[in-house]
Amino acid sequence: MFGKLTAPAPDKILALSGLYRADTRDTKIDLGVGVYKDAKGQTPIMTAIAKAEKLVHETETTKSYASLIGQPDFHAAMAQMVLGADYPAERLSFLSTVGGTGACRQAFELARLANPDCTVWVSDPTWPNHLAILDFMQMPRKSYRYFDNASRSVDFDAMIADIKQAKPGDIVLLHGCCHNPTGANLTLEQWAIVAKTLLANGATAMIDLAYQGFGDGLADDAAGTRLMAEQMPELLIAASCSKNFGIYRERTGLLMVLTDATAQEATQGNLGKLNRLAYSFPPFHGQALVAKVLTDSSLRKEWQDELEAVRNGMLGLREQLASELRQLSNSDRFDFLAQHRGMFSRLGATEEQVLKMRADNAIYMVGDSRLNIAGLNSTTVPLLAKAIIDAGV
Ligand code: LMR
Repeated sequence: MFGKLTAPAPDKILALSGLYRADTRDTKIDLGVGVYKDAKGQTPIMTAIAKAEKLVHETETTKSYASLIGQPDFHAAMAQMVLGADYPAERLSFLSTVGGTGACRQAFELARLANPDCTVWVSDPTWPNHLAILDFMQMPRKSYRYFDNASRSVDFDAMIADIKQAKPGDIVLLHGCCHNPTGANLTLEQWAIVAKTLLANGATAMIDLAYQGFGDGLADDAAGTRLMAEQMPELLIAASCSKNFGIYRERTGLLMVLTDATAQEATQGNLGKLNRLAYSFPPFHGQALVAKVLTDSSLRKEWQDELEAVRNGMLGLREQLASELRQLSNSDRFDFLAQHRGMFSRLGATEEQVLKMRADNAIYMVGDSRLNIAGLNSTTVPLLAKAIIDAGV
C-alpha cells in the first residue's frame, strides 16, 4: 500500500533550515525560519518562562488528562491579552491547540463544518503553510492582492476590490500584525475599511495572530483584531504563543471563535469534538506556563520587559540595515525595511539573487526573498547589506 506514495515536495521554510545546517562555512547567516535569535544567534528561554516553569513543576501533582478544550485560566488570560480586559466572554468559544498551526487547522475545520462550500481567501502572498493546509484539506481557496512589489507596501485598493468578492460563508484570512512573509501591515484606518467591507458582503474574517508583541507592542499589535472583534458578528482568531513567549517546542496555540451568544454552546461543543478527533487533549505544559506568566504580576512585568527588548532589538536592526543600504545604494529604495514590522520583510530580490547570496555569502533567506530580521546582529547587518548590493538587488 505504501509503495503507492510519492514523496511530497518539501516545505520550503523547513527545507531551508536543513540546507543552512548542512553548510560548513562559519560565516553563514540564517535568515530563514521565523525563530527569534539574540545577538549571539541563540533562542533563549525567556527568564519569566524559566521561573514559571519552576513554579509549575513545584505545584503540579498529577499528569492525568486535563481539559479537552484547554485550560480556562489560559483561555481567560489570552483573551485578555488579545482582546483587552472587557472581552465579550459570553460570545467566545475557546480551543487550545497544538501551536498556532493547530489553531489555523482547527479554524479551517470548523469553517468547513459550518459551511462545506466555504472558500478561504488568503493574502497574496501568505505563509506558505496556510496554502499547504488548505490544499491538503481540499478546501477551495482564492487569493486577494495584498503586496505591491514596487513600493514594498500594502496595495490596499486592490485588497479591498478583491475581498469585496467574498461571499457569506466564506472566510477571509488576515494577518493580525507582522504580516508573514512581507512585513507590510494594515493601518487601523485600513482595518476599519476591511471590517466595513466584510460587514457589507457577509463574509467571516479569520485572523492569524502569530507575532503579537513583535511589531509595535502588545496592545498596538492587537488593535486591528480588537477592532474586528468589536465590529464583526463572527470572527475566528488563531493565536500562537510560540514567538512572543519563546516556547516554540511546547506547541501552544489558541483558537478563539466569536459568535452570536446563542451560537456559543454549539460552537464550543464542536470545537471540543475537533480536538477529540484530531489528538484528544491539547498539550498542557505551554498553557500552564503562559497562564502563570500572564496572571502573576511580577512575572508578567518581567516577560513584557523582555518582549519589549526583543522588539526594540529588531527595530534597531531594521534601522541599521536600512541605513547601511541607503549609503551603499545611494538611494532610499530600501527604507521600507525600517517601516515594516515584525520578524520578516520581503526584500524584493529575485530567486536568482537569493540563490546568489546563498552561494557567494552563505546568506540563507527564503526563495521569495523573505528575510528574518532576528537572524541578524549589528556585525552581520553590514555583511548582508553588501551582499544585497553585490547581488544586484
Ligand atoms: C515561519 O514562517 O518561518 C514560522 O511561522 C515557522 C513555520 O512554522 O513556518
